[in-house]
Amino acid sequence: MPTRSPTATPRPWWRDAVIYEVYIRSLADSDGDGTGDLQGVIDRLDHIQALGVDAVWITPFFPSPGHDHGYDVSDFRGIDPAFGDTDTFRRLVDELHERGMRLLVDVVPNHTSHEHPWFQAALAEGRDGVDYRDYYLWADPAGDGGPPNNWLANFGGSAWTWEPESEQYYLHAYLPEQPDLNWRNPRVFEEWVAILEHWIELGADGFRIDVAHNLLKHPDLPDNPVLEPTRAENVPAGRVRSARGLARVYDVDQDDVVDLYTQLRARLPRTHAGEDPFLLGETVLENPERVERYLESGRLDAAMWFGTDRVPFDAAEVAQVLRTPSPDTAGRFGWFLSNHDRARPASRLGSADRALALSAAVLAMPGPYLLYQGEELGMIDLEIDPSTARDPIALRAGELDASRDRARSPIPWTDEPGRGFSSAEPWLAHGPLPEHGSAATQRGNDTSHLNRWRSLLTTWARLRDTLPVSTAVDHHDDLLTLTRGALAVQINFGTEALPLKRPAGAEALWRSQPGGDPATLRAAEAVWLYRPGEQ
Ligand code: GLC
Repeated sequence: MPTRSPTATPRPWWRDAVIYEVYIRSLADSDGDGTGDLQGVIDRLDHIQALGVDAVWITPFFPSPGHDHGYDVSDFRGIDPAFGDTDTFRRLVDELHERGMRLLVDVVPNHTSHEHPWFQAALAEGRDGVDYRDYYLWADPAGDGGPPNNWLANFGGSAWTWEPESEQYYLHAYLPEQPDLNWRNPRVFEEWVAILEHWIELGADGFRIDVAHNLLKHPDLPDNPVLEPTRAENVPAGRVRSARGLARVYDVDQDDVVDLYTQLRARLPRTHAGEDPFLLGETVLENPERVERYLESGRLDAAMWFGTDRVPFDAAEVAQVLRTPSPDTAGRFGWFLSNHDRARPASRLGSADRALALSAAVLAMPGPYLLYQGEELGMIDLEIDPSTARDPIALRAGELDASRDRARSPIPWTDEPGRGFSSAEPWLAHGPLPEHGSAATQRGNDTSHLNRWRSLLTTWARLRDTLPVSTAVDHHDDLLTLTRGALAVQINFGTEALPLKRPAGAEALWRSQPGGDPATLRAAEAVWLYRPGEQ
């Protein structure tokens, strides 16, 4: 078995960490109102810890009118009573720390709720207001009285909403109920330093920064270039079709946005453990070089790389997505197959076996792996029913197929009708049971999806600190091989078994499918081979 090399250079805890994403509404409901809560997370820490994860990222639990299920925040320092209170939060932090896990708070700096006191004050002050007006982005109408430019909101319609009292428009990248903050105003920056300090004081170990690429807009507000219409039939969840008609040149990922993170980082205190708070950005960008800018020294620690959340089950395409990071930023892309905005990988890729095989390669990439709740159970998408749809994408834009509800159904803890999630009707319908059943059923079955994930993560914990940050990815027909020091991952992306290419002396540490002929790599199977002596 591999052991940690005594000469290994110390590396930050998050380098090859597994970070479990809790979508708070759907993990576990402790108080019988049909919605998950912080006490529910505490109640399920045995499950989370037994998986072998290093940290937990919890989606927003702040007071919110809930138009975007918590991503429309009306008090960045508070806790919505539906989810608990400061005392519950402190207990969660203590429990996590006692169990050797860290906590990441999901902060939403790009926008507030329209009910936030800052926005209410900006409205009350009117167009000449000097205190809070400039916390937001206001503009006069265009010559024809319409919106100041052609920017579109991700959830449908113009990105500008008319405010009749002051006769100005305000900007919102998402819903009209989520006005964008003006990060060019130094007072907004100072507010955020204080908000992050508050959560660090309460015990947070770091932050997941919502739409980190979105914070600055071009100050002249130029029109975005219009794109050629595409046949966007099969769009990934997260943004409505109509919002895909423009190139996002002036409203996201401005050149100077990365400087904000240098400045912010310099102001943050250390965590309770005496560490620099870990900053993970949600950077929804297609060009990896643009993502890398967020990682240059002193900016973010890690940036989410949107590639493996949409790649088909195909060796060549997977190889391309895995080769993306440059050596300079290797180890700092945040890898994931899914989250609360995307389709479930077992559905998207066609089976839980395929999802696990792909995860076995993605996990081995240098950098943190973000494991979304339910992925460990092989959960599949909720079939969206127009009468029960909750996501504003489905409700307001009518795009059921882009709805994010698909990945947000409650966790099936047991096989009973309420699935052990809540004693009440859940806020969102239960999805179909995963192929291997509920968490309780899977726990008792050695070869269940859950237990295969657990053995993968146990193996990973023993191996990761011995590995370099450089990787080589090759593919030939349906076989993909990823090599990282002594670890070689092989995956069969085809539908026929292949001979397993085992280098001399290599030991098979883990296989994604139970049993089988050791000399064969079955369809949709991944194997981890350990090659002693390789660095
Ligand atoms: C992020 C969140 C998503 C939210 C959006 C606006 O992409 O993950 O759920 O709707 O930002 O805050």
